[in-house]
Amino acid sequence: MMKPDEPLKNFMQSAQKRVDKALDGWLPPTNRVPYRLHEAMRYSVFNGGKRMRPILTYGTGQALNVDLSLLNGPACAVELIHAYSLVHDDLPAMDDDELRRGKPTCHVAYDEATAILAGDALQTLAFQVLASDPSLPVAAGTRIDMINILVEASGSHGMVGGQAIDLDSVGTRLDLPSLENMHIHKTGALIRASVRLASCVAEGVDADTVNRLDHYAKCIGLSFQIQDDILDEESDTQTLGKTQGKDRNHNKPTYPGLLGMSGAKRKALDLNEEALDSLSVFGGRAEILRAISVYIIQRRN
Ligand code: IPE
Ligand code: IPE
Ligand code: MG
Ligand code: MG
Ligand code: MG
Repeated sequence: MMKPDEPLKNFMQSAQKRVDKALDGWLPPTNRVPYRLHEAMRYSVFNGGKRMRPILTYGTGQALNVDLSLLNGPACAVELIHAYSLVHDDLPAMDDDELRRGKPTCHVAYDEATAILAGDALQTLAFQVLASDPSLPVAAGTRIDMINILVEASGSHGMVGGQAIDLDSVGTRLDLPSLENMHIHKTGALIRASVRLASCVAEGVDADTVNRLDHYAKCIGLSFQIQDDILDEESDTQTLGKTQGKDRNHNKPTYPGLLGMSGAKRKALDLNEEALDSLSVFGGRAEILRAISVYIIQRRN
C-alpha cells in the first residue's frame, strides 16, 4: 500500500486536528435538547472521516499564502455538507448501507427519522458557519459569494443533482459523458467548492490563478469518485470502513463497470496528470495540492 509522503501526512494530520476542533465548537452540545438529534449529528461528524475536503481548503490556502486559521469556517462548512450527504446517501431509500467509516451508519445507530433530521441540521449548520463565522476576514459581498458557491455546489445543480442522477441510473448503462456528468455533480462539485472557497479568502489573487486552481479541483473531483468506484470493486470492507462490492450489488453505473478496471485506473492517472499540469505555474507552495492529487488516486480507503 502506498502511503502519502511525509509532508502531506503531516499536513493532513494537522488539518484534521484543526478542522475537528473548529467543528466541535460549531456542533451543538449533546447536553442541549434535542439530545438525541445532537448526538446523532456529532456521531456522523466525529466518526473517522478522512477530512479530504477541509484538507483541500487548507491546502489551497497554503498555495495562496492564506493564514490557515482564517479558513476554519469554510473548512467546517464543506465537511458539514459532506457529512450530511453521507448520512442521507446511506439511508434505505438511497444506498441502504449499514456501515460507514467502520461503524454502523447513522440510521442504524439511531433511526431513520433521526438520520434524516441530523442530515438536515448538518446542512443548515454549514450555511450558518459561512454566514456568521467571526474569523472569516472577508467583506459582506464576498461572504455572500461564498455562501452562493456552497449553495450551487450542494444543491440540485451540484451534489444533490448528482445524487438524483445516481439514483435514476441504477440498473441502466450510462454512456461515458453521462457517467462523467453524474460524478462531476455528486462528488466533484463539493470538492471544487472546497478549493474555490479558499480562493475567495485570499487577497489579490488574479483570475488566471483562480481558474487554474478551479481546473485542478475539477480534475481531482472526478478522480476522487473514480477511485471510490475502483475501491468499491477491489478493496475490502475492513480497509474501506464501508461494505465492499455494494455498487455492483446495487447495479450502480461506475467507471470500472464502463471502462473496465484498467480503463478506470488509466482515466484516474490521466486526470492526475491534468491536475498537476494546472498547477505547473505554482511554485513550492502548491506541493501539498500536488501531493493531494496523487494521494487521491493511490488511497486505499
Ligand atoms: C465518500 O467520501 C463519498 C464520496 C463522495 C465518494 P470520502 O471518501 O471523502 O469519505 P470520508 O469522509 O473519508 O469517510
Ligand atoms: C456518494 O457516492 C456521493 C455522495 C454522498 C454525495 P457513493 O454512494 O459512491 O459514496 P459511498 O461509496 O457510499 O461512500
Ligand atoms: Mg451513493
Ligand atoms: Mg453510497
Ligand atoms: Mg462509492
